[in-house]
Amino acid sequence: MSDLVTVILAAGRGTRMKSSLPKVLHCVGGKPMLQHVLDAAKEAGAKRNIVVVGFGGETVREAIGAQAEFVVQQEQLGTGHAVQQTAPLLKDETGVVMVLCGDTPLLTGALLKKLYDAHMEAGAKATVLTAIMPDATGYGRIIRTADGAVEKIVEHKDATEEERKVREVNSGIYCFTARNLFAALLTVGCDNAQGEYYLPDVLEILRKNGEKVWAVAANDYESTLGINSRVQLSGAEKILRRRKNIELMEHGVTLMDPDSTFVDADVTVGRDTVIYPFTWLEGSTTVGEGCELGPNSRFSDTKIGNHVTAHFSYAHECEIADDVIVGPYVHLRPGTQLAHKVKIGNFVEVKNSNIGEGTKLPHLSYIGDCDMGAGVNMGCGTITVNYDGKAKFRTTVGDKAFVGCNSNLVAPVVVGNGAYIAAGSTITKDVPPSNLAVARARQKNIDGWVDKRK
Ligand code: UD1
Ligand code: CA
Repeated sequence: MSDLVTVILAAGRGTRMKSSLPKVLHCVGGKPMLQHVLDAAKEAGAKRNIVVVGFGGETVREAIGAQAEFVVQQEQLGTGHAVQQTAPLLKDETGVVMVLCGDTPLLTGALLKKLYDAHMEAGAKATVLTAIMPDATGYGRIIRTADGAVEKIVEHKDATEEERKVREVNSGIYCFTARNLFAALLTVGCDNAQGEYYLPDVLEILRKNGEKVWAVAANDYESTLGINSRVQLSGAEKILRRRKNIELMEHGVTLMDPDSTFVDADVTVGRDTVIYPFTWLEGSTTVGEGCELGPNSRFSDTKIGNHVTAHFSYAHECEIADDVIVGPYVHLRPGTQLAHKVKIGNFVEVKNSNIGEGTKLPHLSYIGDCDMGAGVNMGCGTITVNYDGKAKFRTTVGDKAFVGCNSNLVAPVVVGNGAYIAAGSTITKDVPPSNLAVARARQKNIDGWVDKRK
């Protein structure tokens, strides 16, 4: 499908979203609607995408970047007019142009492929993707001739009572042979109920010119649903979540409660991982095999190895190696890397730190900007004092160091391999390897003090 070009219509204002954000940038399933469309196009083999923008065009361009070229439609005079704006960019195009809408996030690559293949097989100049809607209100209706061929598409507002009974609708997605598309667009008028230049009119024009016009129906109407309001957005969210959860379960992941498991489209999860309720896996998160995640956990853009246990925890932009145990009540902040068999226990926060193999931070610690070796034992309540009010400094803790409870490590500071730190110490100087550092006032017991006080 090396000659496939897409034109994605996204110039509409999206008034019903009641938003300052362009409609196509509203997120569903963890990414903007338009991104879902681009991903489906890519999967279907598109080599070039052109997005027609209008309202909020600059914002759309920033969000999508190099994935597409952009054309501005200054005035929204209709879908035909919108496609017309791409003519200068596509004047040398001889292949197929697939027209898509930026507000149909439920499309799949497979469905677009099916449309493309049907178009090629039929040898048609235009092929429309149709859907059988339970309620066709608002959609353009597919009007067929007695022998089943597509005669034309009639917009809801222009349709007769009889035509409105048709439940097969125009999904707004088509394949055209580029040359025929742009030639026909020149003759599209705007004498209709909305005073707009309708793209679907191209089909009738081509047919009247004796060209082959074809239609292919989607297996399920859901995939073609367009999103116009927040209520519809939440419906799409549900569908995407459900699809993703089914995909995960079919690949060997156990979801204790799919209704309360929220996994973004691009997340991958290995077999035999069990996910407990109220767990979010977001963005580019990847999870290995045999993990136990949740309940009540959130992982964003985090790489999780195999056999990791993490409950009641939040990790973002982290890397967690195999056999790590996290939680409950742990916050892992960006730039944190946990090596094999690390254990992070109750009420611990780790930020921008490397924690070595088998190291344990079992309770109530803040570890920030720290490079910690293997086999370290951090006592309860240990804190890296990484910030002097102006700048951040790093702490280094060597292999097999043992840090007593309630210690402060005032950075920049290095604790050598195998060093011990007495509980309650505030360490401000480097501790050489295998030394014991005691940095606290010595205890004094005063004999008879209590009796005298009476
Ligand atoms: C359109 C189709 C209708 C189909 C329906 C499917 C037309 C005339 N009608 O109707 O047959 O059933 O989609 O959802 O095409 N847009 C622009 N510039 C414009 C107008 C629209 O970029 O001047 C974009 C919109 O942002 C949107 C898409 O085109 O992404 C569709 O426009 P919309 O107004 O939603 O069309 P419908 O009335 O839904
Ligand atoms: Ca419209």
